[in-house]
Amino acid sequence: MTFFWSIVHCISIRLELKVVNPLRQRRHTLPASEFRNLTPQDAISVFEIEREAFVSVSGECPLTLDEVLNFLGQCPELSLGWFEEGRLVAFIIGSGWDKERLSQEAMTQHVPDTPTVHIHVLSVHRHCRQQGKGSILLWRYLQYLRCVPGLRRALLICEDFLVPFYQKAGFKEKGPSAISVSNMQFQEMEYMVGGQAYTRRNSGC
Ligand SMILES: CC(C)(COP(=O)(O)OP(=O)(O)OC[C@H]1O[C@@H](n2cnc3c(N)ncnc32)[C@H](O)[C@@H]1OP(=O)(O)O)[C@@H](O)C(=O)NCCC(=O)NCCS
Repeated sequence: MTFFWSIVHCISIRLELKVVNPLRQRRHTLPASEFRNLTPQDAISVFEIEREAFVSVSGECPLTLDEVLNFLGQCPELSLGWFEEGRLVAFIIGSGWDKERLSQEAMTQHVPDTPTVHIHVLSVHRHCRQQGKGSILLWRYLQYLRCVPGLRRALLICEDFLVPFYQKAGFKEKGPSAISVSNMQFQEMEYMVGGQAYTRRNSGC
């Protein structure tokens, strides 16, 4: 065999090894469970879950598709998605806010570099509800916020029936919100990042 053909032979063996090497194949397997910040590429999956969760119930989504795209473009670091085998099963979208209480403008604005995150929406895919996923994702998100420089608190609004759900996660009631959507009234809830709630599940950053 000439030197040239020996080289070609070696390369072809290496290529074959690349194809059959099971360790390399495993790299392409989707993780069973993954938590990560969302990107604008996730907006459609986000909106599908959101639409099913809210439109059938109240006729209104907390965020339109354009707003989802906007927030995931402007402040992806304030979002968190839970993926199972590559499919989104639950998510949280937040944005920065710079006032003591939430007002109507907070629904569409992101104020950068502020100590407050406004949680616009937490939603779990309908097939995955009542399995603890909403609580677990919220807990992971609140732990994650400890690692975001300068972040001190989280605010959200919710309907009365979800107040106990957020209280269990360490949120405190701030009273009725000034925000109303389609005549729906909300309670405003506050969580102090770095407080004592849930410390037994300390994740480390
Ligand atoms: C609310 C939501 C995020 C909770 O997530 P989940 O994974 O189903 O909840 P978990 O299994 O972690 O916890 C269950 C607890 O949530 C609360 N909860 C959930 N849905 C509720 C509802 N419709 N009414 C009252 N409480 C409810 C209850 O406290 C329940 O505890 P219980 O089973 O002891 O009664 C989820 O049901 C969802 O996506 N709902 C539609 C969208 C929505 O309303 N989002 C919140 C406002 S942004």
